[in-house]
Amino acid sequence: MRKAILFTNIIILIVAIIVCTAIWPIYGFSILGLAVFGLGIYDITQTKHAITRNFPVIGHMRYLLEMIGPEIHQYFIEDDTDGKPIDRNRRTYVYQRAKLERSTHPFGTELNVEADNYKWMKHSIYPSKLQHEQPRVLVGGPECSQPYSSSIFNISAMSYGSLSKNAIMALNLGAKAGDFSHNTGEGAISDYHKHGGDLVWEIGTGYFGCRTEEGEFSPENFKKNAVLPEVKMIEIKISQGAKPGHGGVLPASKNTEEIAKIRGVKPHTEVLSPPGHSAFKDAEGLLKFVKQLRELSGGKPVGFKLCVGRKEEFRDICEQMLITGIQPDFITVDGAEGGTGAAPIDFSNYVGMPWEEALIFVVDTLNGYRLKDHITIITATKIFTAFDIFKALCIGADVCNSARGMMLALGCIQALKCDTNKCPTGVASNDPAFMRGLVVAEKWERVKNYQAETLKEFAELFAAAGCVSLRELDRNLINKRIIDDVKTYEEWYPTIDSGVYFKEKMPA
Ligand SMILES: Cc1cc2nc3c(=O)[nH]c(=O)nc-3n(C[C@H](O)[C@H](O)[C@H](O)COP(=O)(O)O)c2cc1C
Ligand code: SF4
Repeated sequence: MRKAILFTNIIILIVAIIVCTAIWPIYGFSILGLAVFGLGIYDITQTKHAITRNFPVIGHMRYLLEMIGPEIHQYFIEDDTDGKPIDRNRRTYVYQRAKLERSTHPFGTELNVEADNYKWMKHSIYPSKLQHEQPRVLVGGPECSQPYSSSIFNISAMSYGSLSKNAIMALNLGAKAGDFSHNTGEGAISDYHKHGGDLVWEIGTGYFGCRTEEGEFSPENFKKNAVLPEVKMIEIKISQGAKPGHGGVLPASKNTEEIAKIRGVKPHTEVLSPPGHSAFKDAEGLLKFVKQLRELSGGKPVGFKLCVGRKEEFRDICEQMLITGIQPDFITVDGAEGGTGAAPIDFSNYVGMPWEEALIFVVDTLNGYRLKDHITIITATKIFTAFDIFKALCIGADVCNSARGMMLALGCIQALKCDTNKCPTGVASNDPAFMRGLVVAEKWERVKNYQAETLKEFAELFAAAGCVSLRELDRNLINKRIIDDVKTYEEWYPTIDSGVYFKEKMPA
């Protein structure tokens, strides 16, 4: 705030001086001198900022440069393969597909194909016929009476509140037009989610949209939303990669009448999402909760999302699946490098298992316990391109989701201000002044285009690999270089045979 006021004042002063200097040069220079002198006196005498106290006037340059640093870096310094968390190449990839612009790349790759961690797929001398229909995956095990035919590329969880209402509407309209699903995020189902797109309703520890006044799970309130025809699947959020094990706070100031009504809380009060669920305390409780939600929803697919922390806890869940006979219909795997609207930096940087290890671990563990057959593995985390989808499916996922890719399609420029309510593109701000920039009628089509064009390119990769069925995608199809050693994923991370953990001890 202080920086914004300072910046505005400086601009006004500069304009005033330029105008005065142009009309009456003597007065203009006098005003300039007086302004600089006044600012200098103020800087020396103020006590809050050491830099301007010690370096009057010029010390302000630091604040100015700090304020526009990310933009300077992005526009003037950043290379095509630079840019964090999403490099320019990938951002451009999304923009081009969203706008149906040129999707070819001139003159060859810019990537260092000899670099450590470089990955590439194996194509075939005998490519298969290009398939024009988007592949779909049926989600729902034997206990599910309303299985959902899912696209293999969907919108990952992002709540109304972390995204603007315009963004939510555009995402939902895009999902409807492209026949893919839109995950509500844990902030409940709002009217902005109801534009005809298929919904995956996510339930977090705050039980928004299905809670009692005290914040416990309410079966009655759950049922009212779960049976809505647009709700196709229900996801229990155990954790998300960017902040696993961390709850959230909805401050009283952001808890408007509208948000309170959507989330089922009292307006203008502080609302806590605790770090853990109150509806269950152990693996058996989680599975019983899955069963309860499935029954209350009338047999819709129910699963859970997690970022892997302690491996033994996930194995415990698998063992309880065998003991209780209750299985989730899907498991969503998020990586530690996943996105968020806002999270404490230590949680983002140092908590949770990175995506690739996590996906491999979950796929292998389910296989080891012979549980993979009826459980769909959904995954998100930095899946932007057709190759990212191809690789995830080869590792063992069935369905991919994207959060930040869809934000880029909406016009996000990676200004990294999502937690300030001052998102310059209106994607992550509910301030009407910023939100007006995101015109729903323009942007829903970009979401649809990005998803469809990416899957079109996936179909081309799939054909180049010589595959005719998704079942043929496996770890043999991708190579990975680690230092100077090149092996397939199958060689680096051998697939676990189905049921092997009944005979052998599982690895630590
Ligand atoms: C703005 C924003 C809000 C998010 N909100 C949620 C949420 O409510 N629930 C959740 O499970 N994940 C949430 N996520 C995480 C994403 O759903 C996703 O798992 C993660 O960002 C990895 O995907 P990506 O790399 O495509 O962004 C959010 C991510 C972003 C960027
Ligand atoms: S443009 Fe908006 S949504 Fe994108 S990173 Fe910046 S603040 Fe966040």
